[in-house]
Amino acid sequence: MKPDPAFSQTPGSTPEHILAASAHRDPYPYYASLVAGPALVFDAPRKLWVASSAASVKAVLGNPACHVRPPAEPVPSAIVGSAAGEVFGHLVRMNEGVRHDAPKLALQRFLVDIDLARVRARTEALALTQAGQGRLHGAALSRWAFEVPVMAVADVLGFAEAELPQVAHWMGDFVACLSPVSTSDQLAASAEAASALLARFSELVRDAQTRPASALARLQHEAAQAGWHDAAALLANAVGLLSQTYEATAGLIGNSIVALASQPGLMEAMGREPSQLLPMVNEVSRFDPSIHNTRRFVAEATQAAGVSLKPGDVMLLVLAAAGRDPLCNTRPNEFLLDRPDRDVPGFGQGAHQCPGQALACQIAAAAINPLLASGQLQAASSFSWQYRPSMNARIPVFVD
Ligand code: HEM
Repeated sequence: MKPDPAFSQTPGSTPEHILAASAHRDPYPYYASLVAGPALVFDAPRKLWVASSAASVKAVLGNPACHVRPPAEPVPSAIVGSAAGEVFGHLVRMNEGVRHDAPKLALQRFLVDIDLARVRARTEALALTQAGQGRLHGAALSRWAFEVPVMAVADVLGFAEAELPQVAHWMGDFVACLSPVSTSDQLAASAEAASALLARFSELVRDAQTRPASALARLQHEAAQAGWHDAAALLANAVGLLSQTYEATAGLIGNSIVALASQPGLMEAMGREPSQLLPMVNEVSRFDPSIHNTRRFVAEATQAAGVSLKPGDVMLLVLAAAGRDPLCNTRPNEFLLDRPDRDVPGFGQGAHQCPGQALACQIAAAAINPLLASGQLQAASSFSWQYRPSMNARIPVFVD
């Protein structure tokens, strides 16, 4: 495939435009210039209002007139009527109001109660199994970074060990429905994966009724407690837990390996004190996050940062720029393990804030730990990588 010139990998260059920044080699000087500029800027070629400072991002994310989907297109037209569209239409991430609030509460309570010590142990074991015998680098390392987190969350949700590779494969296909640039073949594979995942979750939910201690029994209990009585939506949001994990946590692991490769002294410090891996991952999620921006769609006339917005306006919130805003984090361009009061806009804010932050960081740290201990990352400073072309995610692709 010919590289898209908008996604420049050249150090020192400036991203061609805001949607090329997440996959740029170093978008942070460009983000700093946006943060120093007006609170909201209209990007006419892309028809987007861009908010980059911590205050303007927060203002838009807290504005109830700014919705997660365009009101006229709750489900992307390319997937309406397919199983992938069915899942998408139920996701808390893609809904407001009653279709959001009770499900969100249930998912939040479910996630907060997960035994993170068990997740850590299971993730370390999966990370070793998936790493195999040889030295892990290049394409195999990238594949590993995608597989381990989604397998770890599938394990939490009650999939058997033998099924985990299949779940990772389904998820790789499913996430195509979340991208506006997927081809019709990718969308067909996504719909098939959605059907398969819904069918399997439906069996697991049924089995959970006789196993009250299982994760899916707990999720059903939290749903009932929160007044969420929609069995189809529960299945779709179980799929959603895997899809929310998939690319974002692969990016967090990849960007952590990039930090180990490029932050002076970090590799040695982690080798000496592996217990610092979690603070390291927390700082990566602020310093070089995997999700660089998210969007909002103005549903009714409103104001944000002193600008009048009208229905139909589209807002791009640059979470990665906000994390480097000096009014959000002091000394923002320094990588500090013991940063006090770290503010991490890369997990969102307001009603749709990510409920999986603690789980994601724990999985990323636990995945890296055995690689570090076995010396697999010793050569990280000689790794090469590029960023996957994407308009919102920052996921390094390691090159052989
Ligand atoms: C590094 C990994 C992750 C990152 C960077 C991330 C980031 C985000 C962001 C930015 C949002 C809000 C989007 C918006 O407001 O437009 C979000 C929402 C969400 N995330 Fe995560 N996430 C990660 C991992 C996870 C994991 C592991 C789970 C659960 C297993 C999860 C579950 C969710 C859910 C359910 C939502 C929707 C919440 C709502 O709409 O109220 N995420 N995530």
